[in-house]
Amino acid sequence: MDAKVKKSQTQVNKPMSKPFKNLVVKDGQAVSSYALDQITNKIIHGDALEILRKIPDESVDLVFMDPPYFLQLPKKQLKRWNVKSNVEGVDDDWDKFESFEEYDEFISIILDEVKRIMREHATLWVISTYHSIYRIGNIMQDKGYWFLSNVTWLKSNPMPNWLGVRFTNATETLIWATKNKDAKKYTFKKDLAKKYGIGKVGANVWLIPLCTGKERLKDKEGNKLHSTQKPQELLRRVIETTSNEGDIVLDPMAGVGTTGYVAKALNRNFIMIEKEKKYVGGITKRFEQTPILEEKEVKKTIE
Ligand SMILES: C[S@@+](CC[C@H](N)C(=O)[O-])C[C@H]1O[C@@H](n2cnc3c(N)ncnc32)[C@H](O)[C@@H]1O
Repeated sequence: MDAKVKKSQTQVNKPMSKPFKNLVVKDGQAVSSYALDQITNKIIHGDALEILRKIPDESVDLVFMDPPYFLQLPKKQLKRWNVKSNVEGVDDDWDKFESFEEYDEFISIILDEVKRIMREHATLWVISTYHSIYRIGNIMQDKGYWFLSNVTWLKSNPMPNWLGVRFTNATETLIWATKNKDAKKYTFKKDLAKKYGIGKVGANVWLIPLCTGKERLKDKEGNKLHSTQKPQELLRRVIETTSNEGDIVLDPMAGVGTTGYVAKALNRNFIMIEKEKKYVGGITKRFEQTPILEEKEVKKTIE
């Protein structure tokens, strides 16, 4: 194991010195701009379309963006064909758009603002499924983002295709990009990257289970608080390999705050934006404990 890998593993369990107070900044029309220190290590509650415009130019080192998928599920409820119970999917209001045009417009505005907010050396990760990742990638390239890699997240416990009419979808795609072709001084920890993927080379296929067990946030009734909470292990790999301690990591659509939680556990700073009150509540609860990542055995996709 090389020196850089050892260092990162000690970071993982280092406790935060300060508890989180006044975590939430409620956005409103009265605020026309934010100073960086007002929003660093904060979750801004409101609409990313409004809030991103208020964040200063060139202020963050890494962006992780996990936007709505626009799954376009049918209006009727899907039943599992053999047991007749409902299929658990993403049918949340935040995933609904009228058309591809409306979805593209939304993504386009977010990507313009993110590009302005990224420092010159910063990189952007975007994750989605086949429903939208191609559209997002196309828009990114049209805006001059420069693709460095794509990573396939291979889910070791995917949700089956209950109707048996398609292949079970066991992957999501992450695009990793700089804001333009000339941005060369971005962060990439090649020795850490080699811990994952295939063989000794750090190939771009990560085998990680869906977020389950005690990591999964629940509501009062014991149901999942968020339908698409990402596993901490996914964010750990993203943040560890492509940022440095002390960096600022932006997540403009934070859900239940996996990005900020992992960023803090790894001694980075965060800015998160989320519009749904119940998820902001979930983040606040999550941060009642000192963010910490349990040491887990890292499995290569193929040894
Ligand atoms: C795919 S989920 C993100 C899940 C997150 N990565 C996690 O691990 O919990 C997308 C999130 O975007 C939020 N969202 C959608 N439109 C938004 C907007 N205009 N402004 C802020 N948040 C938005 C949704 O409420 C939802 O929580």
